[in-house]
Amino acid sequence: MQGVFITIEGVEGSGKSTQLLHLSERLRRLGLPLVVTKEPGGTALGREIRRLLLEPHGSGETWCAEAELLLFYADRAQHLETVIRPALAAGKVVLVDRFEDSTRAYQGASGVAESSLDRLSDLVLRGLKPHLTVMLDMDPEVSLQRVEVRNLSLGTEFSETRFDEAELEFHRRVRNRFLAIAQNHPNRVALIPARDPVDQVEAAIWLRVAPLLRNAGFGVD
Ligand code: TYD
Repeated sequence: MQGVFITIEGVEGSGKSTQLLHLSERLRRLGLPLVVTKEPGGTALGREIRRLLLEPHGSGETWCAEAELLLFYADRAQHLETVIRPALAAGKVVLVDRFEDSTRAYQGASGVAESSLDRLSDLVLRGLKPHLTVMLDMDPEVSLQRVEVRNLSLGTEFSETRFDEAELEFHRRVRNRFLAIAQNHPNRVALIPARDPVDQVEAAIWLRVAPLLRNAGFGVD
């Protein structure tokens, strides 16, 4: 028996966390065997890598593009080996918050060559692909404003978080890369407009997830 591999992707502020929560609750209510996990940081060691990647270092040093890329793939290799592949082999539904499309979008937008991405992908994924990728699409101008509002509401500690023009431009490149991936993989990727009301986005996601689960032999309405 083979499980079902679903990933969820999107720019910051696209509502990914909310939708992931709603979808996982729905699948749990249906009693499906479910593993919900994320990248980076889906394993104990991966959480160390996540900290190295996402928390600013006291020295002010930042990762060069290649080192950053290798850390994301090191996290992914460990995650695949110890969590994702075993769960799929056990016939479970595996729901992952960000996966390889994020690397292609974010590290690609930082200037990593497509050929480097392809080589690492071959090494680490060995041909494994998600059955479905839910890609939440939103103009970064709107989605980053949401993030700013959220940060402000969290209090002074986060109120410095403002996206300047260069960051906005980076996130526009990320979005365009996500859109290109969706265009090049229409069977795998469900591109979903994320500006619609939460319930509507949830329904659009379910329209793509339900048939996949049914085809895999899970009883869902
Ligand atoms: P996270 O706090 O999980 O953000 P989000 O709620 O937006 O998912 O941080 C993940 C960050 O790491 C996010 O900015 C995207 C980035 N990222 C990459 O640059 N490359 C990758 O391969 C992955 C998985 C994430």
